[in-house]
Amino acid sequence: MAITRREMLRTTGLLAGGSVLAAESTVTGAVAAAGGVGAAGAAAADTPADIFDYEKLAPTRMTTMGWNYISGGAADELSLRWNHEAYSRLRLRPRILVDVSVLDTRVTLFGRELAFPILLAPTAYHKLAHPDGEVATARGAHASGALMVVSTSATTSLEDVASAAPGPKWFQLYVQPDREFTRELIRRAEAARYEVLVVTVDSPVLGARYRETRTKFTLPPGIERANLKGLKTATGGHRATEDTIYSALLDPKLTWKEIEWLRSITKLPVVLKGVMNADDAARAVDVGAAGLIVSNHGGRNLDTLPATIDALPEVAARIGGRVPVLVDGGIRRGTDVLKAISFGASAVLIGRPYLYGLAVGGADGVARVVNILRREFEMAMALTGRTTVAQIDRDVIWR
Ligand SMILES: Cc1cc2nc3c(=O)[nH]c(=O)nc-3n(C[C@H](O)[C@H](O)[C@H](O)COP(=O)(O)O)c2cc1C
Repeated sequence: MAITRREMLRTTGLLAGGSVLAAESTVTGAVAAAGGVGAAGAAAADTPADIFDYEKLAPTRMTTMGWNYISGGAADELSLRWNHEAYSRLRLRPRILVDVSVLDTRVTLFGRELAFPILLAPTAYHKLAHPDGEVATARGAHASGALMVVSTSATTSLEDVASAAPGPKWFQLYVQPDREFTRELIRRAEAARYEVLVVTVDSPVLGARYRETRTKFTLPPGIERANLKGLKTATGGHRATEDTIYSALLDPKLTWKEIEWLRSITKLPVVLKGVMNADDAARAVDVGAAGLIVSNHGGRNLDTLPATIDALPEVAARIGGRVPVLVDGGIRRGTDVLKAISFGASAVLIGRPYLYGLAVGGADGVARVVNILRREFEMAMALTGRTTVAQIDRDVIWR
């Protein structure tokens, strides 16, 4: 994949350094020396500085079909837009004269300590963004210290992703209509040492994704759903045909009964992804869910659902700390991470941002996107006078 010399210098320098964060300034220096990129002269187009620069650059590195698949949402794409917009409505309350010379961003989830509370959400088909697909994502995740949640719809098998790079991983499950296949998929995830089973529960059907309709989305030849090998659905499109709303890849019969069944066949903690309604959240805990992810599927399923940050407080209040509540959707800034935590999230997940990084710079691009967000998050902690994640409470919000 062609990347500019500047991007290459940036990203190789980034990963070569012992500390990725410390490497940032060195790399900037190297770029300036090599290409004469002055502060004012650095064009966003070839030296992405933040997530929005990556978003601008990504479509130039992908097919139109791939770009529309990744960036799109359902129907009028209102929930997609609201997810991020809602964060921009929240203002922060600073604190001064706090010693912030040491920041501790660690969190512990399901017995595993993470260096910072930003995870990679499960997303399908990474080979549409970069030929190395999920292998590159896993390497970028490891380089930046982020935990990766691997999708059922990955274009690399869960075993190959697990062995591509060390570091903790979770497996996202789309329960397959073939229950024996589903059972075997879970057994494989356990054998490959995935630590948590994330069951996506917001997709009995997919939403009306017109960008996919217009570009006649289908998997190109040579790219397959590697985890579904052996099923008819391993290749081709995922969209419902014109005469039905159902997709062969999803089970519209999934109910709470299946969550109990899943719990009975695995020892992994079961986390439900796609919870927006506090009543569902309470029921999830009753049936033994070990955690929840407040998510509207990145605005890709039911349009006009509220922004996830608007749904989070009610869910978190109902759960009252009994299990961790995570949130995803629209997180593009470190301040968004801070706000989500202040509203009761134990951690956040990002989807599109790291796919943009993957498209632009492979593993290095993924690592860099994570580092940008992590750095912005640390700045936001320092400037609100919070030195640990536990200190990020509602008082960081200006009311
Ligand atoms: C291209 C793409 C593919 C996705 N594939 C999956 C998937 O396979 N399984 C799943 O549970 N969620 C999937 N999601 C939803 C993400 O896990 C996550 O909820 C969403 O991307 C978060 O919003 P953000 O992209 O604004 O960060 C996908 C999202 C995108 C953008």
